[in-house]
Amino acid sequence: MLLDVDNITVHYGRLAALRGISVTVEEGEIVCVVGPNGAGKSTTLLAISGVLHPTDGAVTFDGKNIAGMSPEAVARAGISQVPEGRHVFTTLNVEENLRIGTRMRKDRAEIEKDYKRVLELFPVLAERRRQPAGKLSGGEQQMLVIGRALLTSPRIMTIDEPSLGLAPNLVDRVYEVLLELRRNRGLTLLIVEQSSERALKAADRLYVLRSGEIQLEGKAADLQDGKRVRQAYFGFEEGVTHEGEVDF
Ligand SMILES: Nc1ncnc2c1ncn2[C@@H]1O[C@H](COP(=O)(O)OP(=O)(O)OP(=O)(O)O)[C@@H](O)[C@H]1O
Ligand SMILES: [Mg+2]
Repeated sequence: MLLDVDNITVHYGRLAALRGISVTVEEGEIVCVVGPNGAGKSTTLLAISGVLHPTDGAVTFDGKNIAGMSPEAVARAGISQVPEGRHVFTTLNVEENLRIGTRMRKDRAEIEKDYKRVLELFPVLAERRRQPAGKLSGGEQQMLVIGRALLTSPRIMTIDEPSLGLAPNLVDRVYEVLLELRRNRGLTLLIVEQSSERALKAADRLYVLRSGEIQLEGKAADLQDGKRVRQAYFGFEEGVTHEGEVDF
């Protein structure tokens, strides 16, 4: 197992945003965590990347306990994070933004190869290499942050809501690229999503998180009809109404 989040609890002050959740990711796997607003999805990724520290439980990466480590140390260990909300340096150009991803690496020849590969993967970034990142569209900025994360040469990439605010065709493109990266480079992915349909399409396995607890976990292939996922996601059974309630 590459990543093992074991029974962690995470607090914001006195509020427990996560209460004993467990998530595992095998090498080469695509795992999605889905759930509604406020479920604890971002908190889960922040606890893995060392921004937050669990008050209970363990996070093990490649056999090593990383739960108390700093974000820099976690990144150095091989976990690259694409946080919520497409953080680009708006006044730096596209190339400068991408190069930030390489700053912890010393393997110069490999860096140049990876840089070329990223530009092949996202031709629009090659075209706009010299333009300020702030001038890119939302979808292009998403490509940029994914490209930058790839340039850290991660063993696993965590992505917080890659489809947030993107038009459906751009979301398709982002997911195409992610699936291609797994296929061609064996990249391991842990993706947070609000759309359970999207997760069922892209993931090997998924977890449904709601109110800081895992409600359901399973192979995407076993959950394709979506019924159990929706039930876990919304917390009630479809088609079941109680007296006095209106059945939409
Ligand atoms: N910095 C913070 N301080 C206090 N409470 C927070 C903080 N960040 C998140 N929370 C709370 O923790 C819970 C989980 O938040 P989190 O951001 O992980 O949810 P999420 O599943 O990512 O939601 P969304 O889909 O809206 O991004 C929520 O109740 C939220 O209000
Ligand atoms: Mg979030």
